[in-house]
Amino acid sequence: MFGPVTEIKDLQRRARFRVPKMFYDYADSGAWTESTYRDNEDAFGRIKIRQRVARNIDERSVKTQMIGRDVAMPVALAPVGLTGMQHPDGEIAAARAAEKFGIPFTLSTMSICSIEAVAEATTAPFWFQLYVMRDRGFIEDLIARAKAAGCEALVLTLDLQVLGQRHKDIKNGLSAPPKPTLKSIADLALRPQWCLGMLGTKNRTFGNIVGHAPGVTNMNSLSEWTHAQFDPTLDWDAIEWVKSKWDGKLILKGINDVEDAEIAAKVGADALIVSNHGGRQLDGAAASIDVLAPIVDAVGDRIEIHMDSGIRSGQDVFKAIALGAKSTYIGRAYIYGLGALGEAGVTKALEIIHKELDVTMGLAGETDINRVGRHNLLQPSRPW
Ligand code: FNR
Repeated sequence: MFGPVTEIKDLQRRARFRVPKMFYDYADSGAWTESTYRDNEDAFGRIKIRQRVARNIDERSVKTQMIGRDVAMPVALAPVGLTGMQHPDGEIAAARAAEKFGIPFTLSTMSICSIEAVAEATTAPFWFQLYVMRDRGFIEDLIARAKAAGCEALVLTLDLQVLGQRHKDIKNGLSAPPKPTLKSIADLALRPQWCLGMLGTKNRTFGNIVGHAPGVTNMNSLSEWTHAQFDPTLDWDAIEWVKSKWDGKLILKGINDVEDAEIAAKVGADALIVSNHGGRQLDGAAASIDVLAPIVDAVGDRIEIHMDSGIRSGQDVFKAIALGAKSTYIGRAYIYGLGALGEAGVTKALEIIHKELDVTMGLAGETDINRVGRHNLLQPSRPW
């Protein structure tokens, strides 16, 4: 029915078919008019790679390091909330695929499987993404749990102090717990495999929060608590406070402006992620690939720079590396794989991107990803 999977779009089509509409739309959407969501991908298209020929490219390597960790390619799995609703035990499936591939997996605060469940199901240290909530006692506890689970890095997300609205989520009744409508019940009836998978797992609610946050014992109490908890007062002092509570590696996520990058570089974090949350927060913000180069130029000598938002191929990864990122993250590109085929789908997404990156690098005349730079891009298309 679908034919062979050769690109991320093939996984996306399958995910749309297999995942309940409410959860597929949650992934495949952006804030408000979705202009930044669209531009994240379009901006990659505007950047052109120099084609170089007759250089010996027989032996190539896309291996590199992220914050000192060896990685099979400059790609990590981004934190994605509700991953366990794209596929039962989705966080565990994604973490296993990342571990086998030799790249980092980042678990979201808003994951379905808990930190402990992912730690139990994997052996490689994963990274934990933290949203700072108003209840700092809960945050301290969460940080301690991440430490106890052996998490290697804390990824502190800074661009979600208030929520960018996604119209589709409201129209679909996406909430915790989801509001059942005739439409959503009929939709579930069309996805028996997904429903059976959900019945077969204990991981059906937000495992990092339910049973841990004060008074949050079930899904009904969760919704109210979560909405009240995202902290609009978060500032650089609060970031310093988080840093004082965590002695592992620290990555600051959601920097999309040179001035913020300058401040972030002073915090003493190990890396920052140039990101606009995949177009899910500030609609109208610049595509992250368009602000990457100025940020690299401003602070790249002081802090490791990572990048996400809009990556759907190895060509996109190549462009981000050429503009100065040390590494990238993918969100939807692996989420579609997960929704389509579970762990095998995440592996497939990683294989596709790895192959595209390797071939792109070769056709650009390079053999080592660590030597790729701006000389590999055509100057007329400079977005910076
Ligand atoms: C996200 N993202 C995100 N980021 C974060 O720090 N914590 C989170 O819980 C989530 N949740 C989330 C859910 C979904 C469905 C998506 C698509 C994204 C943002 C994510 O980490 C990353 O920044 C983007 O996904 C990158 O953009 P692409 O690769 O999806 O285009």
